[in-house]
Amino acid sequence: MTRPIRSYVLRQGRISPAQRRALDELHERYGIEFRDAVLDPEAVYGRRAPLVLEIGSGMGETTAAIAAAQPDTDFLAVEVHAPGVGSLLRRIDSLGLSNLRVVRHDAVEVLARMIGDASLAAIHLFFPDPWPKKRHHKRRLVRPEFVTLAARKLAPAGILHAATDWPEYAEQMLAVLSAEPLLENAARGYAARPAHRPLTKFEHRGLALGHPVRDLVFRRRALGQEKTEDLV
Ligand SMILES: C[S@@+](CC[C@H](N)C(=O)[O-])C[C@H]1O[C@@H](n2cnc3c(N)ncnc32)[C@H](O)[C@@H]1O
Repeated sequence: MTRPIRSYVLRQGRISPAQRRALDELHERYGIEFRDAVLDPEAVYGRRAPLVLEIGSGMGETTAAIAAAQPDTDFLAVEVHAPGVGSLLRRIDSLGLSNLRVVRHDAVEVLARMIGDASLAAIHLFFPDPWPKKRHHKRRLVRPEFVTLAARKLAPAGILHAATDWPEYAEQMLAVLSAEPLLENAARGYAARPAHRPLTKFEHRGLALGHPVRDLVFRRRALGQEKTEDLV
């Protein structure tokens, strides 16, 4: 069997004692194990609410801030990096968030195996690794197969919201997302930063250095409204 190309490389990174403790003590409460079975959000969150999946939540600052600001929406963060998951578990605990849970696993597999088709209100993909070297471009998440998978998981009118500070990756995102028949651009070209995405520290620094940040907001077309040229 060939190994799939991953969008990350797991390194034996440094993990702080607090993050380690969070993984040991809080994962049972706020973490979800990867399983090859579709997740029942009602069983996880104890209610029926719109569900948003965040891919690559990093240290989780943005994830936790968005979940705290939108108590009527449920959020599932997916991250492979153990220190980031530990840090997010601590935030969930200290903010007392009942609408945010985290899976420590490859988000592509989580999307494919644990998320039902047409079930997500939105997918957030904020500052995915840009893999700047040409020979690494194949590791970028935003490629046609991934976008088709993501689009399939969005409910009609569900939103795929991506952001990047890497101009050439932004162009690739715009081209790949625009070419996906199940999606339509909710803006003209790049979108203005939606109010729900807080400006991160990292982004402030980037903007100060003159790095443009691009948001891309695409909407899942209603069934039967796929671009006709793609159906023949
Ligand atoms: C550049 S960081 C951005 C983190 C965060 N979204 C932010 O804006 O600060 C990208 C993150 O995506 C994670 N990542 C990359 N590929 C992933 C995958 N297939 N599944 C889950 N996480 C992934 C990395 O571990 C890393 O934490």
